[in-house]
Amino acid sequence: MKTIAHQLDAAFRAAIRAAFDLDADPLITASQNDKFGDYQSNAAMGLAKLVTERTGQKTNPRAVAEQILAKLDLGGMADGPPDKNWIAGPGFINVRLSPRWVAAQLAAAAKDDRLGVEAVEVPQTVVVDYSGPNVAKEMHVGHIRSTILGDAVARVLEFRGDRVIRQNHLGDWGTQFGMLIAELRSVGGGAEHIEDLEAFYVQAKKRFDAEPAFADEARQTVVQLQAGGSDELGLWQRIVAETRRHYQAVYETLGVGLKQSDERGESFYNPYLADVVRELRAKGLAVESEGAIAVFADGPGKAPLIVEKSGGGFLYGTTDLAALRYRTEQLHANRVLYFVDARQSQHFQQVFATARKAGWAEGVALEHAAFGTMLGPDGKPFKSRTGGTVKLKDLLGEAEERAFALVTEKNPELPEDRRKAIAHAVGIGGVKYADLSKDRTSDYMFSFDAMLATDGNTAPYMQYAYARVRSIFRKAAEREISYAGLAAATFDVSAPQEIALAKQILRFGETVEGVARELKPHLLCAYLYDLAGKYSSFYEACPVLTSEEPTRTSRLALADLTARTLAKGLDLLGIEHPEQM
Ligand code: ARG
Repeated sequence: MKTIAHQLDAAFRAAIRAAFDLDADPLITASQNDKFGDYQSNAAMGLAKLVTERTGQKTNPRAVAEQILAKLDLGGMADGPPDKNWIAGPGFINVRLSPRWVAAQLAAAAKDDRLGVEAVEVPQTVVVDYSGPNVAKEMHVGHIRSTILGDAVARVLEFRGDRVIRQNHLGDWGTQFGMLIAELRSVGGGAEHIEDLEAFYVQAKKRFDAEPAFADEARQTVVQLQAGGSDELGLWQRIVAETRRHYQAVYETLGVGLKQSDERGESFYNPYLADVVRELRAKGLAVESEGAIAVFADGPGKAPLIVEKSGGGFLYGTTDLAALRYRTEQLHANRVLYFVDARQSQHFQQVFATARKAGWAEGVALEHAAFGTMLGPDGKPFKSRTGGTVKLKDLLGEAEERAFALVTEKNPELPEDRRKAIAHAVGIGGVKYADLSKDRTSDYMFSFDAMLATDGNTAPYMQYAYARVRSIFRKAAEREISYAGLAAATFDVSAPQEIALAKQILRFGETVEGVARELKPHLLCAYLYDLAGKYSSFYEACPVLTSEEPTRTSRLALADLTARTLAKGLDLLGIEHPEQM
């Protein structure tokens, strides 16, 4: 079924057309304050201007609102014929949904596997570029936001019905591999373990800077690697494989759905780079500049995007252009999303502008879903106690340990494996949810205490809320109360808390739509938090198991639908939700 906002949009649009012969956006928004009903149309102000211009007669927004109301047919969505009482302030039109209509919508949602959320009419092919760890380095907190946010959005888009293509743009190519391979050779070691690789890397960099002979060797090694030298390629592959072993384990722990088949590292685009530069030059977009080849994407005099270094060699930007061309031409993307740190904003602006001019993104939406920095308790970029970067693996381990202590304190009687499973859900969920629940564009402060708190907008709170809703069905079973399930449910919502809960449930589809549009999972977190709160108010005010029929069944179904919505929402975020905590 259509979302409430869409249904209102259609009805208001028709009324505006009937009243003014205009096709205007009715500007429907959910009301922030119950005083102003559930939804409002803010179109009258803009329309008044238009009508005044057109007729030459001063028309005020309230008069416009009245004329819209005179033509408005909501077909049962609201009680009574639209009247002047619906108009507030200068001309806002407030709509309060009818409880009977709400009950009917609930019944429809209850019978639907998708909880009444329609799939998109025209599915898009969406490439989601996220995670992108760098080879020979352990994943650090800088990659966590990309991995978590990108994964949640990919799930949301899939649920909406889009064809999602995940792309893990690994940093697996470049001059650093010359150093690394040269160093590995000179110490006679293999790519034994990711931690050794990190140490090798530091050592190699030192030598590269200090020993000209080593630097030369490193440069030659890169050339051989890029030319496909079998010895160099073999070592490189071992390094990549070892790094993969490491990050795949992190994905596994995080419950992130990236597979090896989603990998399109920088190396993948190596064969296309020369052609990208050739085409850019042929189109007059790339020019020689101080020996290098550059695209002045932001105009002359501004910092250009360099696509080939002086003396040869391609760069990060060249690879991104090749990747973009591949995504539109080979993968047929309609939309390409990049979950990458805000510090790369200029880079993506230049890449997008260049690709557009080159004709590689005709009709394709290119979006940099930028995110802020993860900060430590001191408000500075998050560092370990010794000042190094914090390794993701250690951080996740600590989250699980802390969660285990908390779970044990709360439920000492539970068997250890149950406590471990809950601690995994709470600890990992806590880290993920802390990230997902903040607006991605702002920096955010990492705090174990805050993310594991059982109150506030946190994973543990949401998980307890879900388990609490589910517990009512165990109690019902113990008391041998029969409940036939959602498929057969009928709803009768009349208490204010029931109505508020029901309306919140019905906003799920709108919320999912907002996340898909704005690429902001925090909108879904806020929605679920609100839903849990409305359920609590309902549960406090409205007896369920002790009510008479048919109220009891209606309320059980309302609880059931709440649980299903919470579960679906948490699934889309990639947060586990145990049945029992
Ligand atoms: N490896 C990069 C980094 O660590 C992230 C890759 C982002 N994706 C892209 N298409 N550039 O900064």
